[in-house]
Amino acid sequence: MRVLYLLAVYTHILAAIVWVGTNIVLAIAVVPHLRDPELRGPVLALLRGAGPRLSRVGWSALVALLVTGTFNLYVRGYLTTDAMMSAASNPIGIAVLLKLLGMSCVIALNVAHDLRWGPAAADAIERDPRGLQPETVRLRSLARYAGRFGTLLSLLLVAAGVVIVRGWF
Ligand code: HEM
Repeated sequence: MRVLYLLAVYTHILAAIVWVGTNIVLAIAVVPHLRDPELRGPVLALLRGAGPRLSRVGWSALVALLVTGTFNLYVRGYLTTDAMMSAASNPIGIAVLLKLLGMSCVIALNVAHDLRWGPAAADAIERDPRGLQPETVRLRSLARYAGRFGTLLSLLLVAAGVVIVRGWF
């Protein structure tokens, strides 16, 4: 059991690195170049070409986080009826509840971004490269903020993980 637990924590941390790392690289080093008229075409082609594979990597990391996270909660004894009933009245239970709430939002934002706003924004940029139509502006903002907010929330989930292991103060 001990080896399985260590393996689950290792996989959880590795999946968090892949998920957060990919999102940060995209947000900091790739997506901002869509504003540059010279780089817009190649960056859009890169996002379209690499998009499906990046999306698969992202979803695999999220599933790994859910499975290993649930197992870690079980090993730590947080999945018993008693622990669940008293979760809201102790500091670590609150960190666990915040983590589960944050994870639900990350999944919802990722569904909206990967299946709807991201591809729709890419289509709109292709049709209207200078971004003059209100619909292009709207779709780009939705895709951008879904990505940014999801990344920010994921950073808070790392903090919640640290608190679950070490306590608040
Ligand atoms: C984007 C999603 C997530 C990220 C980025 C993330 C990140 C992390 C990180 C970096 C740690 C290690 C903290 C440390 O050792 O100080 C951790 C621990 C932990 N996480 Fe997550 N996590 C995510 C989702 C989840 C989910 C969905 C669950 C529960 C279903 C969960 C439950 C846990 C637990 C129980 C620990 C403590 C592991 C241990 O026993 O050492 N996490 N998380």
